[in-house]
Amino acid sequence: MKKIIVAATALLIGLSPIMADASPRGDLKKFRDYFTKMNPGVKFQDYANGIYALDENRRAEWENIEEFPPYEDGVDVGARLFKKYGVAKCFPNGGKGVRQNYPMWKGGKVHTLEGDLMACLKKNGVNTKKEKLKYGKGKFAGIAAYMTSTSKGNAIKVKINSSRKSMKVYNQGKRHFYGKRGQLNFSCADCHVYNHGMMARGNLLSPALGHTSHFPVWRRKWASKTAKKKGKAGPFDGFGTIQRRYGGCNKQVRAKPLKGKKGKQHPEYVALEYFHTYMSNGIKVNGPAVRQ
Ligand code: HEC
Repeated sequence: MKKIIVAATALLIGLSPIMADASPRGDLKKFRDYFTKMNPGVKFQDYANGIYALDENRRAEWENIEEFPPYEDGVDVGARLFKKYGVAKCFPNGGKGVRQNYPMWKGGKVHTLEGDLMACLKKNGVNTKKEKLKYGKGKFAGIAAYMTSTSKGNAIKVKINSSRKSMKVYNQGKRHFYGKRGQLNFSCADCHVYNHGMMARGNLLSPALGHTSHFPVWRRKWASKTAKKKGKAGPFDGFGTIQRRYGGCNKQVRAKPLKGKKGKQHPEYVALEYFHTYMSNGIKVNGPAVRQ
């Protein structure tokens, strides 16, 4: 009955565009409410800080590291490459302070910031193979990290387009987030919604609210991986994008990370990023940041 009244009122005052995207809005409200009710002591903006919003001791350690951030040189290299490759031309506002608007629906598809960055490099004639610019990590993630750094403090503001095509992608991302997978048969939500704040094999599980606000992140683990392989790591080798993290979390449940075709991001991860980032709307960009 209540639903019918709401619908009728909405029609009466001409709110039909809002009704059309009622479902993402409803999803967002439920998602947010879940976390804010579970953790009454955590301030909304603190969700940008992942596990450090939940655990005081880990937070103190992390704040110490962030005083002399190990990613600073990597961001500087990213800034230099941003200029060298003419990235400013390809983005609104010269590519500065725009992270909060991605993923973005444009021209009938979802654009991630990293997807547009790769397209930009190619358009500008950069030989991405020769320059070793690959999605997810290294120098490429360094440029993305620089772009995030220019957006610090801007609240995430992803718009879910209400067209059927866009909603299909949104729902695909939502299904990935709530769908069980891998040998362990876990969904993203199992770890980062229903069990956030609990331990899983020695790791504290972060809340999914705020998840996308601080990427690319910098992890010692990733820097060491490159160092092991190549003898040494560059200042940007600790960086990984949100989609690199998706791959890592797929592996945690012994599912295969998804790889895109020929220099493209995997459409399933693009869909996931569309949904997952929208769920953090309102949280301020706070990256790059160090993570375990
Ligand atoms: C078996 C549990 C598990 C599952 C399932 C899982 N993750 Fe994770 N995830 C972790 C752990 C452990 C970490 C590292 C600690 C943390 O930050 O939560 C992590 C970290 C992350 C982070 C980084 C958080 C930050 O603050 O930097 C993101 C983002 C993330 N996961 C997203 C996902 C997504 C999306 C899925 C589904 C594809 C997923 N995870 C599935 C266990 C899991």
